[in-house]
Amino acid sequence: MVSYKELGLVNTKDMFAKAIKGGYAIPAFNFNNMEQLQAIIKAAAETKSPVILQVSKGARNYANQTLLRYMAQGAVEYAKELGWEKPQICLHLDHGDSFEICKSCVDFGFSSVMIDGSSLPYEENIALTKKVVEYAHQYDVTVEAELGVLAGVEDEVVAEESHYTKPEEVIDFATRTGCDSLAISIGTSHGAYKFKPEQCTRDPKTGRLVPPPLAFDVLDAVMEKLPGFPIVLHGSSSVPQEYVDIINANGGKLPDAVGIPEEQLRKAAKSAVCKINIDSDSRLAFTAAVRKVFAEKPGEFDPRKYCGPARDLMEELYKHKIINVLGSDHKAE
Ligand code: G3H
Ligand code: 13P
Ligand code: ZN
Repeated sequence: MVSYKELGLVNTKDMFAKAIKGGYAIPAFNFNNMEQLQAIIKAAAETKSPVILQVSKGARNYANQTLLRYMAQGAVEYAKELGWEKPQICLHLDHGDSFEICKSCVDFGFSSVMIDGSSLPYEENIALTKKVVEYAHQYDVTVEAELGVLAGVEDEVVAEESHYTKPEEVIDFATRTGCDSLAISIGTSHGAYKFKPEQCTRDPKTGRLVPPPLAFDVLDAVMEKLPGFPIVLHGSSSVPQEYVDIINANGGKLPDAVGIPEEQLRKAAKSAVCKINIDSDSRLAFTAAVRKVFAEKPGEFDPRKYCGPARDLMEELYKHKIINVLGSDHKAE
């Protein structure tokens, strides 16, 4: 058993309480490799933003859970080396799908876990979430739960349609499970294709898709039922069109990729939404930078020469999100 406290990590309790009070949101960035982690830590250290490092099932399969945990431990030291005296870094399990995986992360030094029972029948979601909460809370590890189903692919949970969170269920769910935060469904979804073209309109000037607005009425109703309770938004990448354009101009094929407009995320960040999950935007930045190097320098074969620019572009992206979208800069001085 390793306590995250020994590793210099923090859970989400204080982060979320301050974020709700201060009207900003904490960035939750997924990481799978060293370049992503370096970029996240540099961006957070430079802006003095609290940050959540997320490890998905896909990341565990790709990079190995043990290695990722030691990387996160190293990240705390790296942050200090960069001059961030008191780094506020949370290591979080993204979309945990069983009690066993959540327990293994708690035992291994994660400071926060998500148990995603959103695809289960309501009572089963409650029973599983409660079991995880009872275990995690013994070690001061915070637990995120989910109610409602996001459209698209949630790791292995595939939902054809998004089923918005039912506000009338949230009090019962939060009370009976004891969860620390709740991921809700208000129209976001995972990946770079968040809306089908037929759900959007098209900007006549640019020809780009304009997505429909998020269901802020559902968010408002949830906040009314659970005043001051930490709310989480998954699937919150904006799918920056400049990255999509670079990818498409350099041999890629991402037609009609579309995300959540940043002004909607800005609005959400000012509310009780205190954790905003971003993964796809970082994948797009990485891919755009790598494709550009390959197109411009076909003879390049040193990975540092294309992963380096990818890392720089991701760092720029993370800083932009922190400063201009979530407003979490200078909240962890
Ligand atoms: O929730 C989805 C995240 O973007 C992680 O996806 O399982 O492909 O790593 P992944
Ligand atoms: P995006 O695919 O929109 O980046 O969402 C990531 C996410 O929700 C991770 O849990
Ligand atoms: Zn997610």
